[in-house]
Amino acid sequence: MPGSKTRPKERLAELRDLIRHHDRCYYLNDRPEITDQEYDKLYAELVGIETQHPEWITPDSPSQRVAGEPAESFEKVPHRQPMLSLQNSYSIDDIGAFEERLRKELKDQAPATVEYFCEPKFDGLAIELVYEQGLLTRAITRGDGSVGEDVTQNVKTIRSVPLQIPEAPMLFEVRGEIVMLKEDFRRINEAQQEAGEVPFANPRNAAAGTIRQLDSKVAASRPLRLFTYAPGVIEGVRFESQYDFETTSGQWGLPTVGVAPKNESFEAFEARLNAALSNTSPSTGSLNLARICRGVDEATSYYSFIQSIRGRLPFDIDGVVIKVNRFRLQEDLGFVARSPRWATAAKFPPEQAQTVIESINIQVGRTGALTPVAVMRPVKVGGVTIANATLHNQSEIDRKDIRVGDTVIIQRAGDVIPEVVEVVANQRPPNSVPFVISDICPACGETAEKPENEVILRCVNPGCPAILRESLKHFVARRAMNIEGLGDKQIDALVAANLVKRPSDLYKLTAQDILGLERQGEKSATNLIESIQASRKTQLARVIYAMGIRFVGEATAKSLAKFYKTLDQFLDASEESLLQVPDIGEKVAHTILTALRGPYLKKELQRLVENGVEIEAIAQTAGGSQALAGRKFVITGTLPMGRDEVKDLVEANGGIVLSGVSKKTDFLLAGEEAGSKLQKATELGVAILDWNAFQKMLKGAPQTT
Ligand code: IVH
Repeated sequence: MPGSKTRPKERLAELRDLIRHHDRCYYLNDRPEITDQEYDKLYAELVGIETQHPEWITPDSPSQRVAGEPAESFEKVPHRQPMLSLQNSYSIDDIGAFEERLRKELKDQAPATVEYFCEPKFDGLAIELVYEQGLLTRAITRGDGSVGEDVTQNVKTIRSVPLQIPEAPMLFEVRGEIVMLKEDFRRINEAQQEAGEVPFANPRNAAAGTIRQLDSKVAASRPLRLFTYAPGVIEGVRFESQYDFETTSGQWGLPTVGVAPKNESFEAFEARLNAALSNTSPSTGSLNLARICRGVDEATSYYSFIQSIRGRLPFDIDGVVIKVNRFRLQEDLGFVARSPRWATAAKFPPEQAQTVIESINIQVGRTGALTPVAVMRPVKVGGVTIANATLHNQSEIDRKDIRVGDTVIIQRAGDVIPEVVEVVANQRPPNSVPFVISDICPACGETAEKPENEVILRCVNPGCPAILRESLKHFVARRAMNIEGLGDKQIDALVAANLVKRPSDLYKLTAQDILGLERQGEKSATNLIESIQASRKTQLARVIYAMGIRFVGEATAKSLAKFYKTLDQFLDASEESLLQVPDIGEKVAHTILTALRGPYLKKELQRLVENGVEIEAIAQTAGGSQALAGRKFVITGTLPMGRDEVKDLVEANGGIVLSGVSKKTDFLLAGEEAGSKLQKATELGVAILDWNAFQKMLKGAPQTT
């Protein structure tokens, strides 16, 4: 093992420090010093040592970021000091009014120029982190301000949150906001939609939904960030100011938004940020967005400037928070009701508008999901005309009590997706009735079903024309069968003309058929036939993905293809074998099996082949040797290559890949986050390889194990 010159216990401590350091580089400074592979190697080495010596696992070890079993519920925990709210103001003039109130309260104690600490108001979910003796012991949601929920396990999965702060005093509570970066939000939502799941309405909902996940493995799979901005109870050290608190927090490795240097002029501050944000993916930690502003005028300029760059920030904000910088002054000012007198939230006017819902349409998706969509009188919001907004499902409609004819406030959430925020109650027309989604599919007239525990109605009629149209759009997509030139309009026309009743019918079309459609010239008809022809030679993964099975996105389709290799073997899949496919759990296995046993999928796949679709055999990885001849491997954890590629590599070199560890296993190849398999292998005395050792083995180096 690398670093084996040092004794394992010392090496373990060294690895903890190294990983912590690289986490900081990556997540706090956005400046990684090593490659992902190198990082994974360090991690695998750490897990390797911890598996041999579970008694050496410390609570701050990077391996402790994910818990084992999902929790049943979250424990309610009181805050030592209530988490209050801020007075909101919505106009730029309110900043002046805020200072007037301060001066009145302070009388002649007020300094000539009040120093404000200004920073963005993050649009996320407030959280409190509790460090005791330097160790992160709890993360508690705001809850009702007095009592929150213990979400420690999920917060620990956020890599930018230090599990340990060696410099922290005895008790150190710090508050902040959990957010999801806009870019991550888009990615997560794409995957969510691809899997036939309901997308999140905005990054805040995605973050809130993730942090309240009972299964911390799910939380770990969704990238969250945290920005800390306020002290809770602190014992053992005193900070002079908010500036002092935030710069020190940052130095201790807490993820703050960063503070501009005290001597940076306002012009330099603007120029620096404008430059940093012209970058397509600006870093989050090194923006140094917070700033000391002297007096109302500078605080007002800060507000205006941050508003102007709002859209270019990597995360959503909804205003700026202006805080009196000196803690002494804060104490003098105290609180009124449930908010401090020393701070104000200057909110940006939201990118909202009012309009009227003219009707609510029900869209039928590829998986049969019935989605209500509000059709509104077109209105401009933040420079974009909006006429439709998804209402998600019945429970969302009920929650907001949205009805046809209602005047509503809409906004663009997460910069892109329009959302109905609320109904303007006093403008509701008389005689309006609550909107109930009919369980009759609007496209085919069959009764839709709502599976238990789900909020979505689904049409389950395999002959539904809407499902067919959506399925065909998916089938021909670039990443599926890749039939170029077959657009939505042509698909609609083919379905309307009854020429295509299922995707396999596309392969029976002739140029004559297409010429018979409206507005089809000879040239485009031949082009289309040619691209259908060109798509016949394809790979198993594409075919599986193209079938649009629920939960089977591109990655899962690839795993299935790698595993089963031929269409026939996939068609014969059993539950046991499906569960052996990497990344397929019970829910997905069950869905695939139900689809395969149903009246449609198997037949349709067979029809594709009958109609001339040729599926290439899975290629063997080139350059294979017999270095691993007959050796049985189990692969676990995250490795520098994709799991499937590693599997290919093992097989191409004559090895055999098994799914579960047993006495018959020769080697366990263990990567990052290796869990129960690693434990079992150790118990059974199975040889454990890290990536390095595996590489050596491939090159034919003799194995000592
Ligand atoms: S300081 C006494 N700073 O706004 C409360 N709050 O309305 C001191 N928030 O629940 C809070 N960004 O979730 C502070 N930079 C920031 C903030 C911030 C967002 C949220 C926070 C709080 C709410 C108060």
